[in-house]
Amino acid sequence: MQIESQNNFSEWLCGLPKAELHLHIDGSLQAHRLLSLAKKNGIALPYSTQQQVESAYHFENLQSFLDLYYLGASVLIDESDFYHLMMDYLLKCKEQNIVHTEIMVEPQTYAPNGVSFATMMRGFSKAIEQAQQEWGQSVALILSFLRHLDEDQCLETLEEARAFRESFVAIGLASAEQDNPPIKFERLYREAHKQGYRATAHAGEEGPASFIWDCLKILNVERIDHGVRCAEDPSLVDYLVAQQVALTVCPLSNTKLCVFDEMDQHNVLDLLNKGLLVTINSDDPAYFDGYLNENFLALRKHLSLTKEQALRLVKNSFKASFLSDDAKAGFLQELSQTADAP
Ligand code: HPA
Ligand code: ZN
Repeated sequence: MQIESQNNFSEWLCGLPKAELHLHIDGSLQAHRLLSLAKKNGIALPYSTQQQVESAYHFENLQSFLDLYYLGASVLIDESDFYHLMMDYLLKCKEQNIVHTEIMVEPQTYAPNGVSFATMMRGFSKAIEQAQQEWGQSVALILSFLRHLDEDQCLETLEEARAFRESFVAIGLASAEQDNPPIKFERLYREAHKQGYRATAHAGEEGPASFIWDCLKILNVERIDHGVRCAEDPSLVDYLVAQQVALTVCPLSNTKLCVFDEMDQHNVLDLLNKGLLVTINSDDPAYFDGYLNENFLALRKHLSLTKEQALRLVKNSFKASFLSDDAKAGFLQELSQTADAP
């Protein structure tokens, strides 16, 4: 591809207002922040320089990543730590023109370190309110559960969240898919639906296509995080197209965690061309070497993503969001004005 056309595409793409729907806040913990918080809180880490941190970020699979991801999150202790974590990511949103973001928050990660739900929420809320006031950032939070834990522990966390119910739009399910099938969380999702939460869940990243079916039919989720293994079941692909169930796909994550060996083997554009409601997201940008725009640019470089396809993906990000219909229409109008500008 010509360098000039690549630059032109990059400038155009970066300028588009976009939504991000699949982002773990702990996955946005940058190496410099990780080191400074570890020092401040007296937490020992196996690295002391930014270079050592970044060179440790090579993974064979999801679990090898999760081990470092939970280690990284162990440096978060007080309210100001959570404020900085959230603010660092929201500043990236501003820089990358991510006008709306739906962020997964995982309180169960911090509880073993003695961090209360209230401490976490005070820090996050302070950063979110500031970003809303200073540049009109739109944010929704997803209460994400760790599927390697027992369902009873998750139900206890859901109870604790009652005091913060208004802060969350939906629940989600993350961590290791292997040995932790959706059915394990049937009661959790039933109770969350009763409390009025909307629902999403990770499925079909490392787990089989049947996990996607189970999330839809047993957990009654509205959208699927990752979901790329749906391609192994043509009847599931047909269903996802017919129902316009959104997939929040994360290309750089999928290659870093070896779901696909190389970016040129990624199936996201095949799924898009089949009519699925796919969206592009960064998952854990500090660990996977790229925020939202870099994910689009990787598709441009390795899969020759066209402007028309990119625009469809960005439109999908608003359509698949948990925003109200009015808010979606407002963002879509803003998008078409920007994209059509000469
Ligand atoms: N999959 C499951 N859990 C996660 C991920 C992921 O890609 N990233 C952070 N938690
Ligand atoms: Zn994820």
